[in-house]
Amino acid sequence: MLISRLYRVGFRVAQELPRGGCRHTNRTRYYTQGPCRQYRQSLLELLPETRAFQGAVLQMHHGFSTSVSDSASAGGDEEKEEISVTFVSKDGEDIPIRVPIGMSMLEAAHENDIELEGACEGSLACSTCHVIVMGMEYYNKLEDPGDEENDMLDLAFGLSETSRLGCQIDASPELDGIRLAIPAATRNFEVDGYVAKPH
Ligand code: FES
Repeated sequence: MLISRLYRVGFRVAQELPRGGCRHTNRTRYYTQGPCRQYRQSLLELLPETRAFQGAVLQMHHGFSTSVSDSASAGGDEEKEEISVTFVSKDGEDIPIRVPIGMSMLEAAHENDIELEGACEGSLACSTCHVIVMGMEYYNKLEDPGDEENDMLDLAFGLSETSRLGCQIDASPELDGIRLAIPAATRNFEVDGYVAKPH
């Protein structure tokens, strides 16, 4: 019912267009350029139903809802672009922060003056960004570590079942609420003189 009504409204608008005095016969120009375009726009602005028509057509052809865009423009999506993360310091203090989607936990820690080393700046050549994910449910939401990360984790101080490298965890919506403990110590083999054993 709604769709057919909207189509009728859209058709009415299309019929109204030539009556507005536009004399261009070229279809492309008719809809996209000059006074015709202005006239069409003013008609669309005058008739609120035509917005619903446009929305319905967009929804059918592109599979998205204008109501989502409306809420985004009203700031509804802004909150979803950041997640809550709590670092637990070496002293056991909770440090809650907000982290933008896509930012690594190492970057987020540095932006918030949290003591997480990151000696190699995320190039998987150290284990100083070692964090312990608190809660298996969050650990299981992370992508499996690659070989390089596992190699570095083998060298980490205080390795645990849910250990990960902070530079390899990127904020994503499903990680909202994650807690990351910073181990009491880190092992920086470049500074400590540690020599990794060849495989
Ligand atoms: Fe070195 Fe993460 S900062 S591996």
